[in-house]
Parts: sequence; C-alpha cells; structure tokens
Amino acid sequence: MAFDKKLLITGGAGFIGSHVVRRFVTQYPNYQIFNLDALTYAGNLENLSDIETASHYVFIKGDITDASFVMTLFETHRFDGVIHLAAESHVDRSITDPMAFVHTNVNGTVHLLQAARSIWKDSYEGKRFYHVSTDEVYGTLGATGLFTETTPYAPNSPYSASKAASDHFVRAYGETYGLPYVLTNCSNNYGPNHFPEKLIPLCIHNIIQQKPLPIYGNGLYTRDWLYVLDHARAIDLVFHQGRNHETYNIGGFNEWKNIDLVRLLCELMDTRLGRPAGTSAQLITFVKDRPGHDLRYAIDATKIHTELGWQPSVTFEEGLAETLDWYLTHPEWLEQVTSGRYQTYYQTHYLD
Ligand code: NAD
Ligand code: TYD
Repeated sequence: MAFDKKLLITGGAGFIGSHVVRRFVTQYPNYQIFNLDALTYAGNLENLSDIETASHYVFIKGDITDASFVMTLFETHRFDGVIHLAAESHVDRSITDPMAFVHTNVNGTVHLLQAARSIWKDSYEGKRFYHVSTDEVYGTLGATGLFTETTPYAPNSPYSASKAASDHFVRAYGETYGLPYVLTNCSNNYGPNHFPEKLIPLCIHNIIQQKPLPIYGNGLYTRDWLYVLDHARAIDLVFHQGRNHETYNIGGFNEWKNIDLVRLLCELMDTRLGRPAGTSAQLITFVKDRPGHDLRYAIDATKIHTELGWQPSVTFEEGLAETLDWYLTHPEWLEQVTSGRYQTYYQTHYLD
C-alpha cells in the first residue's frame, strides 16, 4: 500500500509517546507509523498492546544514541516526518546520573537531526522535525508570572539542562541548515501509563500499597498539570498546522501545590478504595528536598490557543478520575513496572 507519509515517532513506548503513537495510528490510517524505542526501564510495549497489530504500525527496538544505526534507519525508510519524544525524563535520576541525560537527550537528538538533514538534503518540501520538550527549560517562576515562548532559558536541573541543549540544537539546525522544525514546551503531564517514579503515579501506587507518600521539602512547590491525551492532541495539531521554525508552549491552566495535590489524591483514592476519609492522608511524609528544586512552573498557552485553537479538553477533575480508574483497573501494569529494577531505584532514592 502507498502511504501519504512515513512518520517516525521516537520514545513511543514511554508515557507520552504511547499516547501519541495511539493517536496517530488511530487517526491516520494513511500514514505508516514507525515507533523507535530502546525499551529502557521507562519503555513498555504493553502500553501499545491495543494497536500493535495495526498494519500501518511498525515497532523498531533501537537506540537513538547509536549514530550509525540511526543513519541507516533513516536511509532505509526515508521518513517524511519525525516526532521526537525519546528521552531520559526524570529529574531525580538526572541528579544521580547527569551523563546519561547528556548522552540520550543531547547526543541522541543531534544524531536524529543529522540523519534527517542528510536524507532531506535535496528538498525539505513536505518534511518536518518535531521536537517535544518541556517547560522546565525556562527554569523557575516566583509566586507570579507565566512562561511564554520568549521567556529566556534558565534550566536548573541536569534533566532540564539536557532538554534545553537539545532544543538549542534543533533551533540551530533550523537556522544553519534550514531544517524544517517545530518545537513545543509542555508542562507536567499526568494520565494512564505514567511510570510510578513521578509524583502522581507514585502516590497512587503507594496509596494502594499503604506506603508513605514522600513530599519533598515543605510541599509548597507548584506544577501545572495537563492530561496526557490533551498533550497528544496538541502534538497532532502542531505537527500538522504549526508554523515552521516556531515554538509553542502547551499547558493545563491548572496549577497545584504538591501538598494540595497529594491531599486531593488521598481523598479521591479513599473514596474509590472504600477506606474511611483521612486514611491515606496519614501516609503523607515530608522528606529531604530535591537539590535545585524549581519552585513553580506555569505556562501561558495563549499562542497555541490563538493560532491553532487548542485548549485542554478535560478538566483536572475529569482527567484525574480517568487516571485513578485506569490505575485501579490495571493492577497488572503497576505490578509489572514496579517489580525488578524499580525496587532498586526506590530503595536507593527514598530509603538510603
Ligand atoms: P518516558 O520516560 O515515559 O519515556 C521515554 C521513552 O523514551 C521510553 O519509552 C524509553 O524507552 C525511550 N528512550 C529512552 N532512551 C532512549 C534511547 N536512547 N533510544 C530510544 N528510545 C529511548 O518519558 P515521557 O514522560 O513520556 O516524556 C516524553 C518526552 O516528553 C520527553 O522528551 C520529555 O522530555 C517530554 N516531556 C515530558 C513531560 C512529562 O510531564 N512527562 C512534560 C513535557 C515534556
Ligand atoms: P515529578 O513528577 O518528578 O516532575 P517534575 O520534577 O518534572 O516536575 O515531580 C513533580 C513535583 O513533585 C516536583 O515538585 C517534585 C515533587 N515530588 C515530591 O514531592 N515527591 C516525590 O516523591 C516526587 C517523585 C516528586
């Protein structure tokens, strides 16, 4: 069958990537969709079991840090578009092992850019490199203000520094070689398939298990939370309609202090688990703060709203209800991802 486009999605077995792959596979039967993922601890093909047999979907296990593998892959398949999500994504891990973040997030991104530039060198017509990034590149906000697309980069963690560096390389390939790109910087996502090293799924998992809920520092740090399916929808829009060489900020208009969010999770979970009100809140435990902890993230998403008509489609209440129900009806997913290496991570990070 002749396809309209050959699209490479990297990191498609991860949290956000799996929702992006599912969206593109279901919305675009006329695209051939390749999912390239190294299946690190964060990648899980179970996330895609419902679409894995689609005839226009191809999974490739491979590593974006392997330059010759990446080049050969591009030469073989001659992709028209790339949506790049593969990354090391957890701030706490970046504090322990910054070089892994340089390796994957910086080197890996540049290998992809090189390969795209190489196969597209005769014509950029109909080609697009989409780099998925984070609002953390902007550093931290004080009590007021919002990140806009022109906020200067000021990353504070090795994770955000590595993402900032990758963003700069994408921009540089656009300026220097004319590579057609779009870039988005999104706030914290939540939803099904979120690995339980991040705050929301970690708390859901620990509430179920009746284990302590670790709150870093005083718990007054603020994040803006967006439902992952709304992020996937934004990526679809920007990929197809975003202006070339532009950045779009994506956010949930939904700021929560960590402690308030965890208290809300406790209440909602008590109701669902049939536990007396107040049971899970007793698990809240204040622990040592994260070094370089950013106080507050909040996004001004006016540009994507005015230009592309995007806004979140679900309220936080609705998104959290979907999320909690998903975790409660998929105990085998949590069981699978929290066995083995997760135990070692957890022991080292929280109990040392
Ligand atoms: P994740 O950690 O859940 O998934 C990352 C995926 O990349 C995994 O499937 C992993 O196997 C794969 N991967 C890692 N190294 C690889 C390599 N060397 N080669 C090929 N595949 C590799 O991450 P996520 O939360 O889904 O984030 C996806 C992207 O979105 C990242 O680029 C992240 O910076 C960005 N982002 C995340 C958030 C968030 O809240 N999670 C917010 C904004 C932006
Ligand atoms: P996280 O989910 O790691 O996302 P990010 O650091 O990329 O924003 O953390 C969200 C917030 O929750 C952040 O302020 C750190 C805090 N946090 C805790 O208080 N305890 C935890 O165990 C974790 C993982 C995070």
